Amino acid sequence: MKILLIGAGNIGLVTALCFAEKGHQVFCVDIDQTKIGKLKSGVASIFEPELDFLLKSHLKLGNIQFSSQLESVLNQSEVIFLAIGTPNDSTGQVDLTAVDNAVADIARLCTTATNTSSAKVAKTIIIKSTAPPGTNKKFTEKYPNFKFISSPEFLREGSAIYDCLNPDRIIIGSHPEHANDDLKLFKSIYEQFEISENKFIQMDTVTSEMTKYAANIFLAARVSLMNEFSRVCERNGADIELLKKGLSLDHRIGNEFLNAGIGYGGSCFPKDLEAFNSYATGLNENLKITNAIRKTNDLQLANFGFKIVAYHKAANIQNPTICIWGATFKPDTDDLREAPALKLVALLLNRSFNLHIYDPKAEGALTDLFKDQPNVKIFKNSYEALDGTDALVIATEWNEFKSANPTEIKKHLKAPVIFDGRNIFSPPQMRELGFQYFSIGRQ
Ligand code: UDX
Repeated sequence: MKILLIGAGNIGLVTALCFAEKGHQVFCVDIDQTKIGKLKSGVASIFEPELDFLLKSHLKLGNIQFSSQLESVLNQSEVIFLAIGTPNDSTGQVDLTAVDNAVADIARLCTTATNTSSAKVAKTIIIKSTAPPGTNKKFTEKYPNFKFISSPEFLREGSAIYDCLNPDRIIIGSHPEHANDDLKLFKSIYEQFEISENKFIQMDTVTSEMTKYAANIFLAARVSLMNEFSRVCERNGADIELLKKGLSLDHRIGNEFLNAGIGYGGSCFPKDLEAFNSYATGLNENLKITNAIRKTNDLQLANFGFKIVAYHKAANIQNPTICIWGATFKPDTDDLREAPALKLVALLLNRSFNLHIYDPKAEGALTDLFKDQPNVKIFKNSYEALDGTDALVIATEWNEFKSANPTEIKKHLKAPVIFDGRNIFSPPQMRELGFQYFSIGRQ
């Protein structure tokens, strides 16, 4: 099929390339001309494993085209996907301006197109963007001659290509009268994905929009619960990693999203929890658990930060300099959005710490971010970042750090002190090597 993706970000670009990989002719449009210009020359604006390879091979094959002019591709498309960012505004409500503008452009151009050309213009718009429940309904009322389907995505940064090619489920949020046609449409779109019948889940549009928020809140809840358990473990001598093992073997719990650490970040969890809470408040529903998930997340980071502050105070080290390994919100991404590490940096700067920061993928962004901050130095090399520092802090569990040599680390540090925010090292081994080793939920 000829498919149009509007939005060339984390969702749109990945989805466009996966559709191209599965035999479709794809058009990918974004208003950001610089981004489109780079994509046309094979340079992606985001880092995802396999993305570069897919981009270059499908540009070569010619089955993906990038454009910043919607009108040039609109009437060639049989179906339109909206994968446009829906950030929160300052009040925590979702800002749908970009999506509104895109739909208004489509409507304006379609009207012109139908007046001037016989080409069949796409009338189906599939909303992949995360949007408050009821958004689809509002668009349907405002643009009655379009069909809006809500189909949220569940792509994780760092494994987005894999998740897109191997979805756990395809949610089809339809208006009842279109349900059968929509299922047929999705089956033809996803035909080459070889997805089993039972993974196509049909529901109404409001439930479909809710499903996205519910999935992220459930996942964030698991993380915050483990973080909350870890604080009790630190008081009673239990071990959070053994607790995780004990929980994960329960088939009803499973083993994912049970890693205690310094809290979750990223462009989705914090935003979606806040947005859903605002949405529910608008319905006069007070979401105590959702709010507790958010508060626990903040508390986990603060707790870790104050461990570092308290240690250096007790050791009577004035203006300590510490090294932070890992700034991105998770490994295998270059994304710093809502990264716990950056919150930790702010907390420590506030308490007159000097910081050396190293991250495998975010060096450029970090250099920009802290260019006017004299107390922060950004390094290209993990061990150089360690030289002359009073302690090492692990903030993101990059594999590069998991395979680092603790003996080597010790040589570079002024003192053998490690605060491990992601439990990547083992306490007995670190003690044996003579480290003062502090981690999460373990002795
Ligand atoms: C998430 C959802 O997983 C995805 O389905 C949705 O489409 C977008 O939001 P993402 O934000 O890319 O994906 O990252 P994810 O892997 O979910 O991790 C989110 C945060 O939770 C990260 O900061 C990660 O470090 C943290 N996390 C995750 C933990 O602290 N512990 C865990 O066990 C798992």
